[in-house]
Amino acid sequence: MGKYILSLDQGTTSSRAIIFNHGGEIIALAQKEFTQIYPKAGWVEHDPNEIWSTQLAVATEVIAKAGLTASDINAIGITNQRETTVVWDRNTGKPVYNAIVWQDRRTSEYCNAVKQQGHSKLIQEKTGLIIDSYFSATKVRWILENVEGAKQKAQNGELAFGTIDSWLIWNLTAGKVHVTDVSNASRTMIYNIHTLAWDDDLLELFDIPKSMLPEVKSSSEIYGTTAGNILAAQLPIAGIAGDQQSALFGQICTQPGMVKNTYGTGCFMLMNIGNMPKTSTNNLLTTIAWQINGEVNYALEGSIFIAGAIVQWLRDELGLIQKSADVEQLAKQVDDTQGVYIVPAFAGLGAPYWNQDARGTITGITRGTNKSHIARAALESIAYQTMDVLKAMQADAGTPIAELRVDGGATANNLLMQFQAELLECKVIRPEVTEVTAIGAAYLAGLATGFWKDIEEIKSQWKVNKIFTADKKIDQKRIKGWEQAIKATIANTE
Ligand code: G3P
Repeated sequence: MGKYILSLDQGTTSSRAIIFNHGGEIIALAQKEFTQIYPKAGWVEHDPNEIWSTQLAVATEVIAKAGLTASDINAIGITNQRETTVVWDRNTGKPVYNAIVWQDRRTSEYCNAVKQQGHSKLIQEKTGLIIDSYFSATKVRWILENVEGAKQKAQNGELAFGTIDSWLIWNLTAGKVHVTDVSNASRTMIYNIHTLAWDDDLLELFDIPKSMLPEVKSSSEIYGTTAGNILAAQLPIAGIAGDQQSALFGQICTQPGMVKNTYGTGCFMLMNIGNMPKTSTNNLLTTIAWQINGEVNYALEGSIFIAGAIVQWLRDELGLIQKSADVEQLAKQVDDTQGVYIVPAFAGLGAPYWNQDARGTITGITRGTNKSHIARAALESIAYQTMDVLKAMQADAGTPIAELRVDGGATANNLLMQFQAELLECKVIRPEVTEVTAIGAAYLAGLATGFWKDIEEIKSQWKVNKIFTADKKIDQKRIKGWEQAIKATIANTE
């Protein structure tokens, strides 16, 4: 029996592969960025073949880097950017169109029309989601309506739809297995999170033939094995979870009330709410966290579309810094933003505002505003957006949140984490292993094969690196300033 778990973490900007040992330690990591395609304003695509080729390349590379062979691997776990939609031909295995990425806004007008037709309540009740172009359903519909011949082929049962997990597994098994897991299915807006089945009414509404859909499985079981020629051994694929749910699991937020926030391209805060779905009354999503041994765990989620990506924007579009890590130094040169606020609504606003038409704004610029103020306002925007989501979550939960487990690239930034703790007035806890997304999927796979006995066994692997506490309170005036900046951003869309 192999002594290691291989986790494939297919994210929005890069494909990664990480090997973990039984103690949950990282043995090796490989990562490859891939092309972001922006065909028009508001459109974001990926080439599914490049996703697959980079993912396979890093999987092969990481095994070699660790000095292992494929037969040392006990199982593969998969975690992925969610909602991103691929439609491919079942006969040829070729995508009929590029992957339409979760950030893509091309269907927002159609989504507004669906809202106006009065479907919001029904969709929220069935799927836990708020109608938005973020989710997969309207992306599938767009492909069927706009790619020549696609609709006919779909009706003939010749096309397959999948989120990135499905696409990877289809390729890893050489077209034998077409599955997804409940956590990814719950992001499509056609999956009923109560009955745990694709929803016929919604399929009819969005005109999506059922024959395209993957079979929905639990998050921890053996779905199939890799085809012999893929990784030089037939390895069981035994865990799947959307990346944010995987991070919740990797942070061992396995008890109701536990909350994590991942600072990546966007920011995604999830709270475990146990075995019963609960509809948010504060504009959060209800989503499936995972299903293990038949038992489903649900989560409330606040999705922020732009977080770490604002630092990339400072680097790549404004040229204010050379590398992302330089932002902390630049921001530290001033004590505050002097009233400057950035609302990074580059792809509309997600939770708790859900405004698809909002665009980024900078307010409060004076003659004395310099690049440090801008850098600081950019960092603070990540913390302020998180505050808005946390407030909504506290309102839904009916109790204050005492601690927030954090992970993702931006959590290395102590300035941001300290400000975050003060703003939230709660403990912000950074664990030692911040690769929680990848380890979550590794745990799910290892639990299915018996590599780890149960959740109790893995709990002790989670260790604190640093706790940021709310030593001082943030001046209410600053928070008011943020609220006004948000108002101005939304007013621009009216
Ligand atoms: O819902 C989108 C989310 O899954 C993307 O995560 O880390 O790839 O930006 P990430």
